[in-house]
Amino acid sequence: MRVLVTGAAGFVGSHLSELALERGLNVVGIDNFDPFYDPSLKKENIELALENDRYTFFEGDLRDKKFLESIYNKFQIDCTVHLAAKAGVRPSLQNPFEYISSNIEGTVSIMEVIKTQASKKLVFASSSSVYGQSIKIPFCESDPLSEAISIYAATKLSGENFTKMYHNLYSLDVINLRLFTVYGPRQRPDLAISKFLSSCMKGEKITLFGDGSMQRDYTYVKDIVDGIFSAVERLDLKKGCYEIFNLGNSCPVSLSHLISAVEKTVGKKCIIENKDVPQGDVSITYANIEEAKKYLNYEPKVNLMEGLQIFYNWMKIRY
Ligand SMILES: NC(=O)c1ccc[n+]([C@@H]2O[C@H](COP(=O)([O-])OP(=O)(O)OC[C@H]3O[C@@H](n4cnc5c(N)ncnc54)[C@H](O)[C@@H]3O)[C@@H](O)[C@H]2O)c1
Repeated sequence: MRVLVTGAAGFVGSHLSELALERGLNVVGIDNFDPFYDPSLKKENIELALENDRYTFFEGDLRDKKFLESIYNKFQIDCTVHLAAKAGVRPSLQNPFEYISSNIEGTVSIMEVIKTQASKKLVFASSSSVYGQSIKIPFCESDPLSEAISIYAATKLSGENFTKMYHNLYSLDVINLRLFTVYGPRQRPDLAISKFLSSCMKGEKITLFGDGSMQRDYTYVKDIVDGIFSAVERLDLKKGCYEIFNLGNSCPVSLSHLISAVEKTVGKKCIIENKDVPQGDVSITYANIEEAKKYLNYEPKVNLMEGLQIFYNWMKIRY
């Protein structure tokens, strides 16, 4: 079996590629090394996978149809895992058109190529942000979606709508996975856990948005990629599939609690600077994962303290 992973040099994409290789699959990775964060980190992310003969990597942009077509013509792709995106809620408000272009145009662009293939299977990385400021917790896949409150969330919601449309019109088999704040080694440096651990380690200030009560369902990256891999396996067996699953930890943690956990892990107090909650941030994310447990055998195994320790050990070596 051969999977094509978009965003393969990113945080989740590089872990998923390694897992798929470990499980004996062939992997084709593509990434444009978007400069949203240091591309040299992304180049390091794929070093291990590149040592494997079953891994092929191409640098290029999703929106380049000729580039995509040349890859799908060269390899028979059994399933595409579409992770490439401009990620991040706050920066999406500063650069709306870049997010709309990469995340919406990029998603449509890849489905335009998949619809012409013998195997039309797609796993799409959506996000917990599609639930917006939902007051009903935990978030269930069947919940009516309230309004998106950031450009990023709107692009993910739109991505889900487009996958549904391509399923209906062109019979793509699709699983949309709503990921809940993923963390662990190689995490995007703009995200809270990465910033908190590295700033605490270096004795630098961390910014605490709001009064510390904002909650996130932090989910360890290995649990997430296990869930994505199960979705690939499920699609391989199913025809006519269109499904949505939450992949979270189902255990939300407040920012104050997270900071205490970071201090315990690093063995130092954090220096905290308070700021108002930025526009676009929701007050809580909390995944109901019953559907994923039932259909993907998904079971998060790494709790926050364990995950922080593994991440911190990795960070000390890397930096
Ligand atoms: N990390 C999280 O907490 C989280 C939560 C919810 C959803 N997601 C989604 O999961 C996916 C992976 O996230 P991540 O944290 O690994 O982000 P990441 O930024 O580390 O990885 C995304 C990769 O996509 C690449 N990319 C962006 N635009 C591209 C384009 N036009 N063409 C080719 N490559 C392009 C980037 O260079 C990057 O390497 C994204 O779709 C993100 O929206 C992530």
